[in-house]
Amino acid sequence: MEIRRTKIVDAVKMTTYDVKVNVKGWVRTKRGNKNVSFIALNDGSTINNIQIVADASKFSEELMKDVTTGACLSVVGTLVKSMGAGQAVEIQADSIEIYGKADPNEYPLQKKGHSFEYLREIAHLRPRTNTFGAVFRIRHNMAMAIHTFFHQKGFFYFHTPIITASDCEGAGQMFQVTTKNLYDLKKDENGSIVYDDDFFGKMTSLTVSGQLEGELGATALGNIYTFGPTFRAENSNTPRHLAEFWMIEPEMAFYDIKDNMDIAEEFIKYCVKWALDNCADDLQFLNNMIDKTLIDRLKSVIDCEFVRLPYTEGIKILEDAIAKGHKFEFPVYWGCDLASEHERFLVEQHFKRPVILTDYPKEIKAFYMKQNDDGKTVRAMDVLFPTIGEIIGGSEREESYDKLMARIKELNIPMKDMWWYLDTRKFGSCPHSGFGLGFERLLLFVTGMQNIRDVIPFPRTPKTAEF
Ligand code: 4AD
Ligand code: MG
Repeated sequence: MEIRRTKIVDAVKMTTYDVKVNVKGWVRTKRGNKNVSFIALNDGSTINNIQIVADASKFSEELMKDVTTGACLSVVGTLVKSMGAGQAVEIQADSIEIYGKADPNEYPLQKKGHSFEYLREIAHLRPRTNTFGAVFRIRHNMAMAIHTFFHQKGFFYFHTPIITASDCEGAGQMFQVTTKNLYDLKKDENGSIVYDDDFFGKMTSLTVSGQLEGELGATALGNIYTFGPTFRAENSNTPRHLAEFWMIEPEMAFYDIKDNMDIAEEFIKYCVKWALDNCADDLQFLNNMIDKTLIDRLKSVIDCEFVRLPYTEGIKILEDAIAKGHKFEFPVYWGCDLASEHERFLVEQHFKRPVILTDYPKEIKAFYMKQNDDGKTVRAMDVLFPTIGEIIGGSEREESYDKLMARIKELNIPMKDMWWYLDTRKFGSCPHSGFGLGFERLLLFVTGMQNIRDVIPFPRTPKTAEF
């Protein structure tokens, strides 16, 4: 009789013994002696392996020789209570089928304790390690948490384009999209490239943010969110930047900056709590192996109230710290863009909890942010987190057509392709707000991993586009 496959996540929890089961997975380790082999098998459904006990009398030497680390097996046997330490149950194997061998002389994941740098070079295989299995299961869970949170609140998942002709953040860090022959570019009399014969008939790029189109959704559907890939050609080789990352951007009609801060705080806490509730085994593993303070840090964020502080006061705190002898690498003055060392000082040393910094100087923020009456600051809000720095960037939006146009002219933003955005301010303009959460920044926080390249399966960074 055919026995249906049991996932290892379910098999290790079984409490009915002496039943026949079938498990399939990849060999993590094999040890034993000439009478018996113990095989640790993992199928990715859980951090836990199941132990297969293979009696030498039942299996040929030839077959057992091919049961090596990395090989893929299907095992049928009897699930029994384990006598050994370290596992509740094990499988006494009746039959072992080898689906795929893994030559021990070639398979790169032999010994334990490979460095994360080395594992990035074999990113096609690193999901088979304990650490990356845990990280990618948590990644999936965080995506589920995000959709659940917004769905329960009546937000609509609104799909914004990936190919775009506008630069939302105005930072000019866009990857161009073209079908033109780069060896033979058509140019005008000034030597500028002419795009009329290109696929879209104009210059297009990969989006840096779905916000502008998200605002179109919010000013029709009320509350929406986007969740998709975004692209930034910023040449910053830091442990916190990717050229391709995923962003969640809620946009809400009739929300002011306070409503925006409230939902941002509730949202992050919801995601962190979801991880604690649904990823306990994986978090415990990461807590043991990567960062002994991880679970405590996650719990502390759920339990505390985030500080809300205007930028100007934040600068004063940093200047006071400098006056008392604290050394920063980058200078601090009113008007400076905060570096992550400044953000982390406020969060980790001064307040010892997350901080929402508001009302930044308009010069260091995007054109669409609502202008304050002081003429100097805008209604921005960045959420700053321990170990990460900025995890969320957002604002109340400028809803006045005249003020928005004035700012656009001041900044010399080419608006020819953005008439549709301005129409939201022309026709039934409304107060509204939104923010963007960097998905991988959230994952850095939740997993305790140190480098953003290690929380996305196939990272894209300057000079790296393998896999
Ligand atoms: O602060 P940013 O640039 O804001 C926006 O893009 C707005 N349009 C969001 C909005 O209001 N709808 O980016 C938002 C977040 C940052 O706080 C950070 O978490 C993440 O996106 N982020 C990156 N994550 C990884 N790699 C990069 N290069 C990132 N750049 C931004
Ligand atoms: Mg930002």
